[in-house]
Amino acid sequence: MDKLEAAKAHFAALVEEQLARVERMKNDTGAVDYSKLDQIIIGCCGGDGIGPAITAEAERVLRAVLKDDVASGKIIFKQIDGLTIENRIAANKAIPDDVLAELKACDIILKGPTTTPSKGDGPNIESANVAMRRELDLFANVRPVAVPEEGIDWTFFRENTEGEYALGSKGIALDADMSFDFKVTTTQGTERIARQAFEFARKNGKKRVAIITKANILKKTDGKFLELCYKVAKEYPEIEVDDWFVDIISANLINEKVRKNFEVFVLPNLYGDIITDEAAQIQGGVGTAGSANVGNKYAMFEAIHGSAPRMVETGREQYANPASMIKAAELLLRHIGYKDEADRVIAALKIANDTIKMTGRNDGATGAEFANCVIENL
Ligand code: IPM
Ligand code: MG
Repeated sequence: MDKLEAAKAHFAALVEEQLARVERMKNDTGAVDYSKLDQIIIGCCGGDGIGPAITAEAERVLRAVLKDDVASGKIIFKQIDGLTIENRIAANKAIPDDVLAELKACDIILKGPTTTPSKGDGPNIESANVAMRRELDLFANVRPVAVPEEGIDWTFFRENTEGEYALGSKGIALDADMSFDFKVTTTQGTERIARQAFEFARKNGKKRVAIITKANILKKTDGKFLELCYKVAKEYPEIEVDDWFVDIISANLINEKVRKNFEVFVLPNLYGDIITDEAAQIQGGVGTAGSANVGNKYAMFEAIHGSAPRMVETGREQYANPASMIKAAELLLRHIGYKDEADRVIAALKIANDTIKMTGRNDGATGAEFANCVIENL
C-alpha cells in the first residue's frame, strides 16, 4: 500500500474508534451515588519512583480519618502493586491487563505518580495516566489552586479524555519527512465537562466561569468547545461567563491585579495540563497540588507531580513529601461524601505544612514523620 493509502486507512480507523466512543457517551447512565453503596472499595496504586512511599503515607491518613467505617467494613482498602514502569514495559502496555482488572474492581482510586516513557527510553508506550483516564472514562480533571493570603481560589476543570490526548499515541508518521497528530472534540465530551464546571460553580457559590481555548486558530475543535460551553452556560444564568485565549490567560495568571477575579475555569485537555502546572507553581509548586480525575463510574485521585526517579536512585524516597498525595486523599474524601473528614485532613495538612520541614534529604523530616503530624492533628 502506498503511504497515502496507509495514512487514509489509519485515519479511518481512528474515526471509527471515536465514533464508537461517542456512542458510549450517549448511552452513559450518569454518575454513581456513593451514599447508596453499602461498601466503597478504595484502590491504592503506588505507581513508580517515590509513588509507593508517598501513597502509603496518604493511605495511612485515610485509614486514620475513616477508622470507624474501615472497622465496620463500609470502606475497604485494596493494594494494587503492578502499575510499575518495569511491568508496563514487560507487557508492552500502558496498563497491564491484570492491573486494569484490579483497578476496575474498585470504586475509587488513589494513585501515585507513574513514569511516562518518552522517545528514547525503550518502548515508547503510552502514559499510564492517559490510559487510565481513557479506560475508566475519567473525563473531568479537577484541580483546585488556592493562595488565601492573595485572595486566589481557583478551580480548573480540565477536559481529560479528548483533545490532543485522545489520539496522542496514535498519530501518523507518514514518511521520513512528515508526521501528524490529531485533536478531537465531541459534543458529548464537551457538554459533560462544561456541565461539571457550571454545576460546581452553582453548588459552591462561585459567580464566574472562564472558558479557555485557542478558538481563533483551532476553529473546528476549540471553536466547538467554546460554542458548547456557552450553550451549557445558558442553563446557569446566575453565573457570569466569559472566554479567554490560552496565551493571554497564562499571562493573566501572573498578573497580580487581575488574577484574583477568576474563580472557575473550563478548558480542553492540553491547555489544562499546561495552565494547571502554572497555577500550581503560583500556589507554591506542583508538589503542593492534588488532582481529581472524575468519571461517572470511577474516580481517581493523584498528585500532579512526577515520580522523581532520581530520589529513589539516590536512596531518598523516605524523604519525599507526601503533601500532594494527602491533598489528593482529601479530594477523594470530598468526592465520596465525607466532607467533615476532608475538612479535618485539609486543616491537619496545613499544620503539617507549617511545622514540618521537608527538604527531600536527610536534613529534613521523612514522609512518615510528615504523615504522623497530619494524623495527630486530625
Ligand atoms: C498531568 C501530567 C500528565 C498529563 C502526564 C503524566 C501524562 O502532566 O497529570 O498533568 O499530561 O496529563
Ligand atoms: Mg501535567
